[in-house]
Amino acid sequence: MITVRTLVVDDEAGMRKSIARVLSKTVLTIPDVDQQINFEVDLAADGSEALAKLKSNQPDLLLLDYKLPDITGLEILDQLTAEESEMVTIMITAYASLETAVAAVKNGAFDFLAKPFNPEELRSTVSKAVQNLIVARQLKKLARERHQVRFQFISVLGHELKSPINAVEGYLNLMKSKTMGDDIESYDSMIDRCLVRTRGMIKLILDLLDLTRLESGSKTQDLCTSDIRDIAIRSIETMQPMADERGIQCVLHADKTIDLYCDSGEIEIIFNNLISNAVKYNKDNGSVDVYLDKVDNLITIKVKDTGIGMNAEEQATLFQEFTRIKNAQTRNITGSGLGLTILKKITALYSGTIKISSQPDQGSTFIVTLIDNIDNEENH
Ligand SMILES: Nc1ncnc2c1ncn2[C@@H]1O[C@H](COP(=O)(O)OP(=O)(O)OP(=O)(O)O)[C@@H](O)[C@H]1O
Ligand SMILES: [Mg+2]
Repeated sequence: MITVRTLVVDDEAGMRKSIARVLSKTVLTIPDVDQQINFEVDLAADGSEALAKLKSNQPDLLLLDYKLPDITGLEILDQLTAEESEMVTIMITAYASLETAVAAVKNGAFDFLAKPFNPEELRSTVSKAVQNLIVARQLKKLARERHQVRFQFISVLGHELKSPINAVEGYLNLMKSKTMGDDIESYDSMIDRCLVRTRGMIKLILDLLDLTRLESGSKTQDLCTSDIRDIAIRSIETMQPMADERGIQCVLHADKTIDLYCDSGEIEIIFNNLISNAVKYNKDNGSVDVYLDKVDNLITIKVKDTGIGMNAEEQATLFQEFTRIKNAQTRNITGSGLGLTILKKITALYSGTIKISSQPDQGSTFIVTLIDNIDNEENH
């Protein structure tokens, strides 16, 4: 239940009481808001009492008479608009003219009610005002959250780039002071470390670019029907050298064409992320099995590995930017922690889902479903 704190300002006692009676018995439901709304009503009989109450404890909703004994409702509004406020105001007037309506709206009123009005008119005007209040609050909350997410993202990104840059700087300083003598070959391992760290930073930046392109929606999709088995084969070939180095077998299981109306670059990113993880987080001499299937327009991509696996707690942290599970087994594995975030964004473009089942030390299975939207192709 959301309680809307309401202040009714009118010099006629009968009017104040009848508004209070109607509102205190009213329970509203508003589209897209799953909670019911009720009212807590306070009253003020003149301008100075109203101003005192507005200053000490601002309500959510103000029902304000246009004509008060000491100052006009418009003057009260004028004093309030200077302050930043979420309150919504409904002006009550016995002199409903276009002029007063314009003046009231100009001074920040949301709507106005012409006297005399019946309970139904009151409820309907109040309902619109409350809807406006709740939408404004939701927008504000969203803006705050967005700001926080952006801030968090930048701070994590800074942190992710800081350690490789520090490492490269450290090695360069050692080389500059010729710690290992004049023979350039003595520095080979330092140079190799620098290259590994630089490559890591380049990958992070390329992943970030993919992610921002996906998020901004600025990248136009290059759509056509592709047999995604070919994309899976290409992706396995790309990972083959990394798998061979550790004796890992990658096998594709797909006995029919799997057509998908898609941007093949996006599907390749899905395979690359799933298969690179299945190889990276595998054990030496392990295996990676890629299964593809299509039933009606539902495509299933299943990537099963025999790797280090994850416990339930670790699985719950996935799909957030820069999430990397830190333990003894992952310590020496490099990555930007953006792969699964990108995978999730692309999967959403195909109305898909991602399911994981994983056991520590046994392996993980990632199941991605995608919808083949053939209707789109026909409209294209
Ligand atoms: N198949 C898997 N088996 C075990 N752990 C996995 C597997 N796939 C992902 N993870 C865990 O999830 C984390 C996040 O994966 P993600 O692909 O997003 O990032 P990454 O592999 O660390 O970096 P990159 O951006 O280079 O892909 C990994 O760091 C790893 O700890
Ligand atoms: Mg990855």
